[in-house]
Amino acid sequence: MNKPLMDRYKTFDFVRKPVKPGELDVSHKTILYLEDVSVSFDGFKALNNLSLYIDNGELRCLIGPNGAGKTTLMDVITGKTKPDSGSVFFGQTIDLLEMDEPAIAQAGICRKFQKPSVFENLSVFENLELAMKADKGAWPALFARLNGEHRDRIEEVLTTIGLTEHSAQQAGILSHGQKQWLEIGMLLMQEPKVMLVDEPVAGMTHQEIDRTAELLLSLQGKHSIVVVEHDMEFVRSIARKVTVLHEGSVLTEGTMDEVQNDPRVIQVYLGD
Ligand SMILES: Nc1ncnc2c1ncn2[C@@H]1O[C@H](COP(=O)(O)OP(=O)(O)O)[C@@H](O)[C@H]1O
Ligand SMILES: [Mg+2]
Repeated sequence: MNKPLMDRYKTFDFVRKPVKPGELDVSHKTILYLEDVSVSFDGFKALNNLSLYIDNGELRCLIGPNGAGKTTLMDVITGKTKPDSGSVFFGQTIDLLEMDEPAIAQAGICRKFQKPSVFENLSVFENLELAMKADKGAWPALFARLNGEHRDRIEEVLTTIGLTEHSAQQAGILSHGQKQWLEIGMLLMQEPKVMLVDEPVAGMTHQEIDRTAELLLSLQGKHSIVVVEHDMEFVRSIARKVTVLHEGSVLTEGTMDEVQNDPRVIQVYLGD
């Protein structure tokens, strides 16, 4: 269906309302399927027949020179950009191309942008509380008392992100690294299945980078995580399987050693 026609149909409720997705089916171990995905901007192919598969619970690193298509790839998964062709599935049955951005987020795919965006005037605890209530669609109940279960969940996330001792502290006075962890915590409150994390360690101190590596490693298994990062030392410290993007396609995949010794990868980075 062409774009103007599609837009016209969107004014009808039956099309605009996202199809209620079925249960996530990861019985084949794969949680994200991207097949032959292409995205063009004015004729330029930002993604070019890209195929990529993410296993349930895996921690995948995505690298590639500037302009390789990393951000566009995340935009496609989260529904911000719809591809010209190809297919994108969440588990066996959920077609992400039929869903809009809020529906995809609701289904459990969340994204951490580079810049931390926490509520500076609220405490660390309140930030997590808010993230949980926003997720539950409970804005009217924002100032209602938390039940024990919710409180436990916040405590658990505080432990995971290493900010238990800063729970009552105003978020605005946290260090840059601590803000990033808090934002990861806010995503965790929504119990996402997939987390897309864009350049998490940019601007962090060495200590903060090490702590972030530990944090991401502790999340794998429970969540599937795709990390885009330029800091190769950091990538090496967390890498399991690494995917190298180049000119909108997957150039190669493998362990950090495999991809770093691949002559095509060396070529691409030298030519960058
Ligand atoms: N909205 C857009 N309009 C036009 N070109 C774009 C747009 N978004 C990305 N591009 C182009 O697509 C290519 C891939 O961009 P991007 O996905 O941001 O790469 P990366 O994140 O790997 O640096 C780049 O050449 C970029 O200039
Ligand atoms: Mg980018």
